[in-house]
Amino acid sequence: MTPRPVRIGVVGGGLMGRELAALCGRWLHLVDHPVRPEVVAVADPNPAAREWFESVATCTTFANDWRALVDDDSIDVLYLAVPHNIHEELYIAAAEAGRDFLGEKPFGIDLAAAERIVAAIDSSRSFVRVSSEMPFFPGALRAFDYAASGALGDIIDVRSQFAHSSDIDRGKIINWKRRAETCGEIGVMGDLGMHVAHVPLRLGYLPSSVYALLDDIVTTRPSASGGVVPCDTWDNALLANRVPASSASRGFTMLWETRRIAPGNMNSWSFEALGMDGGVRFSTRTPTTLDRFTRRDGEQVWEQVQPGNVSAWPMISGGIFEFGFADALLQMWASFLAEREGDLGSRFGTATPQEALDSHRVFAAALLSQASGCAEPLA
Ligand SMILES: NC(=O)c1ccc[n+]([C@@H]2O[C@H](COP(=O)([O-])OP(=O)(O)OC[C@H]3O[C@@H](n4cnc5c(N)ncnc54)[C@H](O)[C@@H]3O)[C@@H](O)[C@H]2O)c1
Repeated sequence: MTPRPVRIGVVGGGLMGRELAALCGRWLHLVDHPVRPEVVAVADPNPAAREWFESVATCTTFANDWRALVDDDSIDVLYLAVPHNIHEELYIAAAEAGRDFLGEKPFGIDLAAAERIVAAIDSSRSFVRVSSEMPFFPGALRAFDYAASGALGDIIDVRSQFAHSSDIDRGKIINWKRRAETCGEIGVMGDLGMHVAHVPLRLGYLPSSVYALLDDIVTTRPSASGGVVPCDTWDNALLANRVPASSASRGFTMLWETRRIAPGNMNSWSFEALGMDGGVRFSTRTPTTLDRFTRRDGEQVWEQVQPGNVSAWPMISGGIFEFGFADALLQMWASFLAEREGDLGSRFGTATPQEALDSHRVFAAALLSQASGCAEPLA
């Protein structure tokens, strides 16, 4: 079957916009995928960002205003990858224009913005999903399947963590991600929170209340224009959540940890769920292995499984080879574009606008908890 072409317009040609252009260039890694995407347009007010896209052979539109792409009917799908303070206006305009899009997290600068974005999507004809690629590691998919299978029995505890140390250097020049005005008052939770929320929320683990410990470690940073300016976002967030009882399990505790300053971690995403009958854990620090807990012959056993390079969407790379960040992005896009075509089947799907909204409800409760010093219910 000939794959259907999909013309993509990128709004925000920065770090993530470039990742999409690069992964479209290696789409041949996928075996028998129903579509073939190509980046045909970019919108970015920064000339240097647009210039980078001149090396993308399929890209023929270079705009400095995103409206040119939202209004362009020859584009099938938009990828919206801009600073958080721009999400609301852009995502709502895209939904009102009936455009299909993958929007970067956190889906608005705060809960109120996320509510307005999701309301606009709900009353549109747009197919929309939220970027979150880490669950597409083969080990993460296997961990999800194991937890979803009911093999854990009554759940005791869940931990979902994203730790990196991009901010450990106090001399690093400030950028939009380190300012509340552009990143959001939720700080690191806006940056990394969707990554820790996606798998738990897909498993139905929606907290009812949150106790938060938020930490602003580096409070000033050098500015590109000279001098030192305030760095007013939370660097690290530790959320202790209570998940209420359901028909599938007793109520349990769940930690969501997001850290921009976690010494020893470059970019570590991990998920662990423990129950009375079994447990599972996976970390991108050890991408080739997945641990499963079981009780056997009176002994408590952690066994190590090698999931191999066996992805939701088959790749030409052999099953014995290592899987990495760029592969996770490729798999997420394969999932998003296939779901848009109605071809997802039973495979793991990209995060939904409702999941982004629920994550924002947790982060908003976390801000209240930080201020009150008490656990706070979700709005
Ligand atoms: N999924 C992931 O792993 C991941 C990783 C990093 C960032 N992100 C998210 O991606 C989004 C972008 O982050 P980034 O790291 O690519 O940032 P970035 O700063 O590298 O790129 C953002 C780009 O947006 C452009 N921009 C600013 N205002 C614009 C406007 N009005 N119209 C069009 N373009 C505009 C900037 O010039 C810049 O080129 C954010 O929502 C962020 O949270 C996701």
